[in-house]
Amino acid sequence: MEFTQEYSKYNSLQLRDASTFFKRNANFLKDQFKDKPLRILDIGTGCGKVLHEVVLGESGLNFVDVIGVDKCPELIMQARKNYSNEHVKFLIMDIEKNWPNDEALLNFDFVFSNYAFHWVQNYKKAFENIHSALRSGGMFYVSFIHSTVIVNIWEALVNSKYKKYKSNINDYFSSLCFNEESTSVVKELLEKIGFKIIYIEYKKHDFDFGSRERFDATTNALNPFIKAMPKDVLKEYNDDLRSIFKFLNEGGKSFYVPYTSIDILAKKI
Ligand SMILES: C[S@@+](CC[C@H](N)C(=O)[O-])C[C@H]1O[C@@H](n2cnc3c(N)ncnc32)[C@H](O)[C@@H]1O
Repeated sequence: MEFTQEYSKYNSLQLRDASTFFKRNANFLKDQFKDKPLRILDIGTGCGKVLHEVVLGESGLNFVDVIGVDKCPELIMQARKNYSNEHVKFLIMDIEKNWPNDEALLNFDFVFSNYAFHWVQNYKKAFENIHSALRSGGMFYVSFIHSTVIVNIWEALVNSKYKKYKSNINDYFSSLCFNEESTSVVKELLEKIGFKIIYIEYKKHDFDFGSRERFDATTNALNPFIKAMPKDVLKEYNDDLRSIFKFLNEGGKSFYVPYTSIDILAKKI
């Protein structure tokens, strides 16, 4: 999956949903952490904007040592350039690989991951890594997209007009996506690993991307077939995608996208 510079310009959905989490759980987190300066890890931090603006900027959490990790080197470079300082560092890391036994990457108080786990194939390893990275009593919050009509439409398009660009969507998305059993699968796994679950929630959302530019940039950044498509085909494909949305929204809000997420708040025992 390619995440480009474009992506970081259009992540208001991610900012909004992360902000909702902290607003909703502000008192609970305050009660858990008191005013302790926290060590925070952000997994799949991307360009670091959500970490900077929401986790560190809005949440009210006190922090001393913050690390954002992502497997995409380009985005980590961008995050370093814009947001690193003596308390905040960014590292290229794949959450599906073995977690390093390095003091700087252990004993975190809070692990956060916003809208990255739907790309994570080996989610078992990723949750085990969160367990390794946390101190006992430390908390994590992971939120990932469970389903979106965008993917259903991609599938329909590459099964018809764009057959030439077909690739297996399951190579991109976690098997937790589009799976009705996901909340119970995750619950069982987390308890086995050694977490106490505060909540696992299946949530329905919608987002109005508002403009064609924003809609295209967002769907392109997340489009598994994009690399294979020449520019002119991509334009046609985007036009088709947009007209289907317009049709689904009955000519009204053309860039309105419903989606669901799974949100997990848990504590290392
Ligand atoms: C949709 S972006 C979310 C970025 C940011 N958390 C936000 O809320 O805007 C998903 C990010 O997850 C990263 N990612 C996907 N799989 C990963 C993995 N196995 N290890 C580390 N990062 C991963 C991608 O590179 C991408 O930057």
